[in-house]
Amino acid sequence: MDYMYAPGKNHLFVPGPVHIPDQVIRAMNRNNEDYRSPAVPALTKTLLEDIKKIFKTTSGTPFLIPTTGTGAWESALTNTLSPGDRIISFLIGQFSLLWIDQQQRLNFNVDVVESDWGEGAKLDVLASKLAADTAHTIKAICIVHNETATGVTNNLSKVRKLLDEYRHPALFLVDGVSSICAIDFRMDEWGIDVALTGSQKALSLPTGMGIVCASPKALEASKTAKSVRVFFDWKDYIKFYNLGTFWPYTPSIQLLYGLRAALDLIFEEGLENVIERHRRLGKATRLAVEAWGLKNCTQKEEWFSDTVTAVIVPSHINSSEIVRRAWQRYNLSLGLGLNKVAGKVFRIGHLGHLNELQLLGCLAGVEMILKDVGYPVKLGSGVAAASAYLQNNIPMIPSRI
Ligand SMILES: Cc1ncc(COP(=O)(O)O)c(C=O)c1O
Repeated sequence: MDYMYAPGKNHLFVPGPVHIPDQVIRAMNRNNEDYRSPAVPALTKTLLEDIKKIFKTTSGTPFLIPTTGTGAWESALTNTLSPGDRIISFLIGQFSLLWIDQQQRLNFNVDVVESDWGEGAKLDVLASKLAADTAHTIKAICIVHNETATGVTNNLSKVRKLLDEYRHPALFLVDGVSSICAIDFRMDEWGIDVALTGSQKALSLPTGMGIVCASPKALEASKTAKSVRVFFDWKDYIKFYNLGTFWPYTPSIQLLYGLRAALDLIFEEGLENVIERHRRLGKATRLAVEAWGLKNCTQKEEWFSDTVTAVIVPSHINSSEIVRRAWQRYNLSLGLGLNKVAGKVFRIGHLGHLNELQLLGCLAGVEMILKDVGYPVKLGSGVAAASAYLQNNIPMIPSRI
């Protein structure tokens, strides 16, 4: 039964969790199975191989962990680092802040490089810290690829270039929770040591699986890292990988079949087409925001995010009221402003299994709500700007040509 039922589909435009494709829901609608039967290891083998394609790695080792993005963070940190290790971490919004809080609570020596919310990571500060660190006291660089609270995407290839330029051996740990499988992400090419995501974001699955990928260098580091870890210990996974049974503890059978279906859909569309589709969704949203005469929280084009747009509202309007009305009146779910930007921005999530016409529905809804709260928007202005761009840029659906 539905609590607070509303007719039609909920327009779910929070930046995760996102709508689950019908094909995935059908694939998950099944009974439990014995995970020690030959069928589950055979399925798992295909998942581990195929998830590497999403991370663009051939040398990485993936772990599918019953957890969320937060647990994936902990897995990345505790397997590779020791208490007291110096790490550089960029604070640019609520999720990087939460990761830093976890790093501090795990007793790492966190060198926080802070930016104004809406700006990207200060890579010039990273350059000077790397240059000064000839003794290699910095053990890891931690960066959130796409800060979901502000809609800021950092340039990871620049981080790699700096590490190479200063011949610095620090591990490169990346939160790709709201980027992987939606925004260009290249684990091997960018020399990322640990990359991670969560199932409820661009993979369009239910929440509950943290996906972590470790480079050979990260696996080597895990042999000497002294942080306490039990549930998240990669060693336990690797032991069962070597046995060919794969699971140190009970996996969610339904999520595994769901992941299989989700990956099949992504490969059918083509990963590059998925990324292109997100480019279009991001661009169309930004054009609408501009047409409404509102500002994007993201301060520079180089940081524009293709998975989430945080829209700044005029100071006399509380953005939480926009989010409340969207849900109450239009069955539209938008993202709240978080922490420093609470009440100041609302967020439109445009990631996962989502097409352009669905986005236009959301943009039409936002226009009506803006009018409801007294902002003088011309109805249709954002939709017109977005659809003019989309009409010129949406390709034919390959399977229907
Ligand atoms: C960039 C980023 N990192 C980490 C997290 C935390 O993930 P979870 O809520 O699945 O623990 C989120 C959640 O939205 C996120 O957006």
